Amino acid sequence: MKIKAGQVALVTGGASGIGLGMATRFAELGLKLVLADRDEDRLASAAAQFEREGVTVLAVPTDVSDPSGMERLRDLVCERLGTVDILCNNAGVVSPFRPLWTNPLEDWQRVVDVNMWGVIHGIRMFVPAMVEAGRGHVVNTASMAGLGVIPSNGIYNATKHAVVSLSETLRADLDGGGHDIGVTVLCPGLVETDINSDPAIAALIPEGSVFLKPDDVARQVVAAIERNQLYLATNAGSDALIRMRQDRVMQEAGQPL
Ligand SMILES: NC(=O)c1ccc[n+]([C@@H]2O[C@H](COP(=O)([O-])OP(=O)(O)OC[C@H]3O[C@@H](n4cnc5c(N)ncnc54)[C@H](O)[C@@H]3O)[C@@H](O)[C@H]2O)c1
Repeated sequence: MKIKAGQVALVTGGASGIGLGMATRFAELGLKLVLADRDEDRLASAAAQFEREGVTVLAVPTDVSDPSGMERLRDLVCERLGTVDILCNNAGVVSPFRPLWTNPLEDWQRVVDVNMWGVIHGIRMFVPAMVEAGRGHVVNTASMAGLGVIPSNGIYNATKHAVVSLSETLRADLDGGGHDIGVTVLCPGLVETDINSDPAIAALIPEGSVFLKPDDVARQVVAAIERNQLYLATNAGSDALIRMRQDRVMQEAGQPL
């Protein structure tokens, strides 16, 4: 889809990090913004900054894991701005690193609720209107953890694989329907945001690792939307990680005994 001034972009988790980076890039291109985030203070300060810059912004405190909150978001957006042209299901959380079988139930529920159900609710709430309008683009934020496995990060890995699968299926279901609706699954590696600032997580990141900035990711997202690119792995070296897994699958599963 060609991105044009005046279109509406909705970003969940838009008050910080990658979400704020995408919103900033969209605003620079003249788009109107809908920011949805559960962090009300950060949301208000991000919205105030955009307003000072003359950007049209609707900021809606929202928990993406709450179906009724997502319905309220949809209704507000429909009433104030009409259809969403670009939907970024981006809000996400991490869980403590530990062996899969030792994760407490609350961690499973909390992370699945945000990372997987948040994306599902975003699709449920906003894609029907896109289909009706016959145009739009959906960007779902997964991770390289959705295309491979980070040891001791099982809940996160599972939810991000789910986001990849939801995106692939959405694309397949839309294809051939005569609409101009694209889908991108955003798979970042390390990006300089708060999600990595937890000391327990920071301690696990190898020294010398290269982090992208949210703006580097946002620029690639814009290009991917315009090319209707399904898979977007933003960090250098991602291809080697993907190939390692594919090679193993082909070696072990591609040769029936
Ligand atoms: N930073 C990285 O290295 C990295 C790498 C791969 C994938 N990601 C993914 O990128 C996305 C954005 O993360 P980030 O790195 O910008 O981190 P971040 O913590 O800066 O931003 C996440 C935002 O989501 C919001 N949020 C969390 N739970 C929410 C909920 N239930 N409802 C609404 N908003 C909620 C937070 O308040 C925050 O503003 C996440 O899905 C994350 O998994 C990040």
